[in-house]
Amino acid sequence: MLFKDIHLEVNAGESIAILGESGSGKSTLLHLMAGLDAVDSGHIAWAGASLNDLSQDQIASKRLAHIGLVFQAYYLMPHLTALQNVELPFLLANKKPLVQHCKNLLESVGLLDKVSRFPRELSGGEQQRVAIARALALQPPLILADEPTGNLDERNAEAVLDILLNVCSNQGCALVMVTHSDKVASRLSSRYELHHNALNPVHATH
Ligand SMILES: Nc1ncnc2c1ncn2[C@@H]1O[C@H](COP(=O)(O)OP(=O)(O)OP(=O)(O)O)[C@@H](O)[C@H]1O
Ligand SMILES: [Mg+2]
Repeated sequence: MLFKDIHLEVNAGESIAILGESGSGKSTLLHLMAGLDAVDSGHIAWAGASLNDLSQDQIASKRLAHIGLVFQAYYLMPHLTALQNVELPFLLANKKPLVQHCKNLLESVGLLDKVSRFPRELSGGEQQRVAIARALALQPPLILADEPTGNLDERNAEAVLDILLNVCSNQGCALVMVTHSDKVASRLSSRYELHHNALNPVHATH
């Protein structure tokens, strides 16, 4: 059993850091919260609706509305431009992309001049900023980010973190971020550590 007696509630406007050793289950926990994996026992609920009561299809379509995902490896579509990547969640949700809204998101992550670039024409930090804009496209109430700055040098990591925190707070969405960095964690409103199958709050020492 990877987790035992874990309870975590994420409310609007909160930002939560999840710390823990490699292999402690941080990514698995985010996958469970995103409904990408199913729990063996217990339950995950989005806005009060338990995923246990939903089919895979229902989870997939609700996920688009409820959760924005940002991973360490940006997972952009290589054959789509930055703008098209940000528009993609609309297409997946069978909605007409709100092009101006998507451009505004790219502007908010500092990439208005690069909307027509393909991922291979962007730096790692820029690609991650596109991935953040994409995660926010459908204005989900919760962003789950798994080491979003793990592939970036310190300067870019800081810039991407600033942007992520800013856009989340501007859009009023909650953030749960896995990180190995105490410094990154200290920028969020609360921290938890996964250790020996349990999730415990960590109190800042400064
Ligand atoms: N698909 C899988 N099938 C079986 N076991 C898995 C799978 N994915 C991860 N695990 C195991 O679950 C445990 C937790 O893995 P997880 O990837 O959640 O750790 P993590 O805390 O994110 O680590 P890291 O900091 O290295 O990313 C590990 O022991 C891992 O080997
Ligand atoms: Mg991981």
